[in-house]
Amino acid sequence: CLWVRNLTIKKRLPGPFAWPLVGNAMQLGQMPHITFSKLAKKYGNVYQIRLGRSDIVVLNGDAAIRKALIEHSTEFAGRPNFVSFQMISGGRSVVFSSYSKQWKVHRKVAQTTLRAFSLANTQTKKTFEQHVVGEAMDLVQKFLRLSADGRHFNPSNEFTVAAANVMCALCFGKRYGHDDPEFRTLLRRVDKFGETVGAGSLVDVMPWLQSFPNPVRSVYRNFKLLNEEFFAYVKDKVVQHRDTYDPEVTRDMSDAIIGVIEHGKDSMLTKDFVESTVTDLIGAGQDTVSTVMQWILLLLIKYPSIQTKLQEQIDKVVGRDRLPSIDDKSNLAYLDAFIYETMRYTSFVPVTIPHSTTSDVTIEGLHIPKDTVVFINQWSVNHDPQKWQDPHIFNPSRFLDETGALDKDLTNSVMIFSIGKRRCIGDQIAKVEVFLIAAMLIHQLTFENDPSQDLSLNCSYGLTLKPFGYKISAKPRGSVFNEE
Ligand code: HEM
Repeated sequence: CLWVRNLTIKKRLPGPFAWPLVGNAMQLGQMPHITFSKLAKKYGNVYQIRLGRSDIVVLNGDAAIRKALIEHSTEFAGRPNFVSFQMISGGRSVVFSSYSKQWKVHRKVAQTTLRAFSLANTQTKKTFEQHVVGEAMDLVQKFLRLSADGRHFNPSNEFTVAAANVMCALCFGKRYGHDDPEFRTLLRRVDKFGETVGAGSLVDVMPWLQSFPNPVRSVYRNFKLLNEEFFAYVKDKVVQHRDTYDPEVTRDMSDAIIGVIEHGKDSMLTKDFVESTVTDLIGAGQDTVSTVMQWILLLLIKYPSIQTKLQEQIDKVVGRDRLPSIDDKSNLAYLDAFIYETMRYTSFVPVTIPHSTTSDVTIEGLHIPKDTVVFINQWSVNHDPQKWQDPHIFNPSRFLDETGALDKDLTNSVMIFSIGKRRCIGDQIAKVEVFLIAAMLIHQLTFENDPSQDLSLNCSYGLTLKPFGYKISAKPRGSVFNEE
């Protein structure tokens, strides 16, 4: 009867007891995604926690996440109206805005332009590949210089510059050298971005903390400043483009976005959206790609036999007389497997950017009201023992079938770009970029651990998990480009 049906639908979400004022904030620990997975064992894959004054639904495991983000894609496509989200990209971010007609148009503009300048056709693919190879060559030289006289170094800043440069080349038709101090300082600050927007960050759910002189308050202030500074940097370049815009000649992505938003037919977006879109794309494409590259190098020195196997396979396919190219990808399944395993094992975007519900919705018989904050635990999908044999072991070969080919069903099961209406729009270019940079570095260099360091995989939590500063050195492998 209706009464019983209502009772089932309105079943209260399970979850741990929440303390007054702070809720479950003190229970999250250093690695909230691991806590979320532990709580899922007790309360099921869909449960509720409370952080400060927000009730938050946490989704775990492939089935529950797919049900929500694919079957109820519109209901789960919102973003919370957190104060910190309004500080990003001049308050008009495509990444951090909630679901609306205008957001749909904005996302389409970003997605279409990105594709048009990267993987749309053979010509754009080639140009994009040249940008990436140029950065990778620069990294090789820079790493050799930093390894001179037996020195060891931390590669994180170099990867940040390289990843940002790929996006700058697309957006501004110009890259910035590794030695440009202004660019490096800016990027070092932007590197802290993910600490504030990662799921479980307390600044937005306990805004009352702002009224005390405390660390949360300064997190807010620093976050605001870094976003303003980054936005101003990008805006300045967009304004230069606007001043010299010629509808007959599209120089780069900034021109293309100006064309669509400012000169297109009824675009629904005002001209300020141009600088916001470019800021979003550079920001989103930089932190993620540089973080995965840091993990790749760490895992190469942690597992030297895997590094050797990768070098042997690349040498066999590419040889020593030319550089690897994207056309080699189909013959380098082990390298692809290594990259997928790095993404699965580290799950370096452990929880997506927070979502929110756009209307009341019921999943697995549990009622979730409109405007509920939702955390999506990607780590739980990549470490589900029912899906992955020995998920805690790093083993690239798990992605290869008996013939040595990549198992596409399995690679598609790795969840790192999210799914549904908020899925990452840079997934394809990121895969090409990471593959090419990794192939070039492994082809040209051998990476070694600093013997004085106890190698661990410890990392800091945020939107991305970043390995704690480890040190490596790079040795040339000898080729026409790089004489031993
Ligand atoms: C969103 C992962 C690279 C552009 C996201 C999200 C994740 C993600 C997890 C959030 C999805 C959600 O909230 O459900 C990654 C990873 C990357 C990567 C792992 C690299 C390995 C890139 C690149 C670009 C990009 C290179 C662009 C140049 C975006 C944009 C969004 C996004 C615009 C916002 C989508 C939306 O809110 O609708 N990405 N990303 N990403 N990503 Fe990426």
